[in-house]
Amino acid sequence: MKSQYVDELKSGQIVKEKFIISKKILKEKRDGGSFAILEFTDRSGSIEGIAWDNVVESLNVLSVGDFVFIAGTVTEYNDRLQITVNSAERISEDEIDPKDFLRQSDEDIDKVMTEINKFRAGVSNSYLKNLLDSFFDDKVFAEKFRLAPAAKRAHHAYLGGLAVHTLHILELMANIPSVYKSLDFDLLITAGILHDVGKIYEYTYTKKIDFSTRGKMLGHIIIGYEMVAEKIDRIPRFSQGLRAKLLHMIVSHHGEVEWGSPKQPMFLEALILHFIDNLDSKVEMMNEELRKNKGMGKEWSDYHPYLEREIYLREEI
Ligand SMILES: [Fe+2]
Ligand SMILES: [Fe+2]
Repeated sequence: MKSQYVDELKSGQIVKEKFIISKKILKEKRDGGSFAILEFTDRSGSIEGIAWDNVVESLNVLSVGDFVFIAGTVTEYNDRLQITVNSAERISEDEIDPKDFLRQSDEDIDKVMTEINKFRAGVSNSYLKNLLDSFFDDKVFAEKFRLAPAAKRAHHAYLGGLAVHTLHILELMANIPSVYKSLDFDLLITAGILHDVGKIYEYTYTKKIDFSTRGKMLGHIIIGYEMVAEKIDRIPRFSQGLRAKLLHMIVSHHGEVEWGSPKQPMFLEALILHFIDNLDSKVEMMNEELRKNKGMGKEWSDYHPYLEREIYLREEI
């Protein structure tokens, strides 16, 4: 176990600890020397780092995603803590305890899965029910679904994040039929459960949360499409119309081409899935900023690259 975690570091503290390098940008100084802007991460969060000429050479052999042992001092720059790095050396994956780097959900994932399974049990269309069972009766799938993060960084970026995100979507969907009538609720719930299943292969999450090679090449929308299509095709007499609708919901759930969906949502259930998915991911991003900045006395967060804005942090005006 580590003895120093990012969220416990204080200005002036000496650091001698293991982290993952999550950012590395080499820059030239005006006088010709070079320096590096870095970011170090563990299960508790991330902190910026700065390394000057004396250390930059040792950083050349280090890449983003590497585990590293650094020695340095915590300093304050622009109201933020950062580590001024005195030395950095790569360490192997065998020298780390995954628990130090894999953030876990605060929620009890077994309970979350029980709730998801209640929604699953409520699906009455026998073909959709068969399809869901064919996923969740598979123990390997069910365990991966329980463990997977929903992202590397953007939202629910922790073990169990996929299950928590999926349950939020189902809970939000539960109220939809009382407002918007004549929807196919079974289709909505099935797509809610399956929309992000591709994430179980998009990420690796045994030692650290990262993109898998398949994830980088295909992304969870394409992987999820493949997984669902393959299962459907093993169910006799599954209607081609229903197949197309469910697969459309998977491919369109990000809503826009520039957000990774090859098609925009083209019917009501698909539109609703997209907006609920978007709602939950953005609420979680804002909540994460509030959590990260809690107790720091700041009025505004740093610019958030996914939300493309700063977040107002004060609880009282
Ligand atoms: Fe997604
Ligand atoms: Fe999602």
